[in-house]
Amino acid sequence: MADSDDDDFLGGLFDNNRAWAKQIEKNNPGFFDKLAKQQLPRVLWIGCSDSRVPANEIIGMLPGEVFVHRNVANQVMMVDFNCLAVLQYAIDILRVRHVIVCGHYGCGGVKASLKNHELGLLDNWLHGINALGRRYEEAIVAQPNKSGQVDALCEINVIEQVRNVCRTSIVRQAWRRGQDCTVHGWIYGIHDGLIHDLKASVSDAADVAATLAAALAAPRLAHR
Ligand code: CO
Repeated sequence: MADSDDDDFLGGLFDNNRAWAKQIEKNNPGFFDKLAKQQLPRVLWIGCSDSRVPANEIIGMLPGEVFVHRNVANQVMMVDFNCLAVLQYAIDILRVRHVIVCGHYGCGGVKASLKNHELGLLDNWLHGINALGRRYEEAIVAQPNKSGQVDALCEINVIEQVRNVCRTSIVRQAWRRGQDCTVHGWIYGIHDGLIHDLKASVSDAADVAATLAAALAAPRLAHR
């Protein structure tokens, strides 16, 4: 049962919502009416569930402008039908022009993958990052401290998830039929609110390997 503090908190959310809807409608009369008829987002955002990285807000986008998928540590897995369904809808139906994988420094999921203690189910979810940590161990241990190591793996994780997006049959088929779609790798700094481009943008199957190799070879933590 919720206590009265909780009731107040939840009631406040409805108050916030009404104030927000009123403000939007005031700034853009007819906004919700128009949105109710269709959505035409140009961007699919694949980001971390972290409460400090709200997709729309940090890129100044209104409702209707960004299609969003978020999970712990912004993973793109070939067996994750949730993520793949979002990707397919975004590309085949909404025909978004950009897929942005956006990680963030200090990611708790990435941090956890570097530790050995057991988190239960989450260990399975983080298995892929754990494997990346081993594959790129050299670049990671080259960092001067623990937080640098976490942040290096945060960057590498983004670049490798870009690769996974490019590997899906959804994106490969879109490119094959000549559909304009670019996959990007970005990273967000929780400490300053700024997004940085990891220069991992790919818009053609033939460019994936070279572009991502260059992004991985770039100095790590240039934006931290
Ligand atoms: Co995170």
